[in-house]
Amino acid sequence: MEKTKIIELLQLRGEERNVLFGEASKVKDEIVGRKVYFRGLVEISNICSKDCLYCGIRKSNDKVIRYNASDEEILSACRFAWENGFGSVVLQSGELTSPAFVRRVDYILKQIKKLSGNELGITLSCGEQTRETLRRWFDSGAHRYLLRIETSNNDLYNKIHPKTKKHSFEKRIEALNLLRDEGYQLGTGVMIGLPFQTVEDLADDLLFFKKMDIDMCGMGPYIEHKHTPLFEYGNLLKPKHERFDLALNMIAVLRLLMPDINIAATTALQAIDTAGREKALTVGANVIMPNLTPCKYRKDYLLYEGKPNLDEDAGFNNYIKTLAEYTGNKIGYNEWGDSLHFQKNKK
Ligand code: 5AD
Repeated sequence: MEKTKIIELLQLRGEERNVLFGEASKVKDEIVGRKVYFRGLVEISNICSKDCLYCGIRKSNDKVIRYNASDEEILSACRFAWENGFGSVVLQSGELTSPAFVRRVDYILKQIKKLSGNELGITLSCGEQTRETLRRWFDSGAHRYLLRIETSNNDLYNKIHPKTKKHSFEKRIEALNLLRDEGYQLGTGVMIGLPFQTVEDLADDLLFFKKMDIDMCGMGPYIEHKHTPLFEYGNLLKPKHERFDLALNMIAVLRLLMPDINIAATTALQAIDTAGREKALTVGANVIMPNLTPCKYRKDYLLYEGKPNLDEDAGFNNYIKTLAEYTGNKIGYNEWGDSLHFQKNKK
């Protein structure tokens, strides 16, 4: 698909956009199936060594109460996932690279494998790490990794991150290549509706995913957070519902561009529209990540304002039923739901 075509599709509205959504949904059903996979999300710690200008848990935000969930808390969330047929979990945290953190994640990975008789799949989302660390974690049972590029435009990347070596675009690209190299299924993604971001940038993001030959993607609207430096550019933002609409278009176009990858219906969509994730599942997404973080920590893992699901998930089973009915999808119970794209590339 040419860039000009992508730009055109990203801007579709009304009836024409419904045609795009219909196409994307059809491609999804045909290629990856009429199915949705669950990943139980456990936000293990909000302590972060990075200072990304958009993120609520950035190092310099001293209003955040920092936490480290205990091993028992993390493992019991994972046990819940396993017992409820989720098939896999995602362990996410602020970016830390200390030997103690690396050791701890390693220990938790091994314990998760143990408690589930090797059945539970594990995705990590713990930021940029060395080859050595990634290898160690892979050997202990992690097989997928999410690390968003945030934007594929180097200039824009520099506008939304501090100008330090620790926050460089090149390092992020290198980190993505390392992940692929070490055998992980590679997941990346971007924020949609950032200040200074254009529709051309978003088209380039989609082409970047294609060029990087990614296996998984998670994209969501950018949502401003009061206690971050990027907040002052609020006057440059599109209204939230437009960012939301653009995010749905991005998902649909990506499904056409990369029919066999896994695409997540992200939580940020739900922060703008209560049925946001479900809508995403009807326009090409096939993965959802219910939050299993112990409730007492959830309010402290606020990457953006208005993050939903801070309370106990009352009526979880009802939710699943509604989800299946609303989206017309089956639930991939007890399946890892690996990226078809990855499986094909391996052969
Ligand atoms: N709005 C939307 N998404 C955000 N993230 C971080 N801060 C925000 C925000 N203000 C996303 C980033 C990161 C992921 C874990 O959360 O894309 O990679």
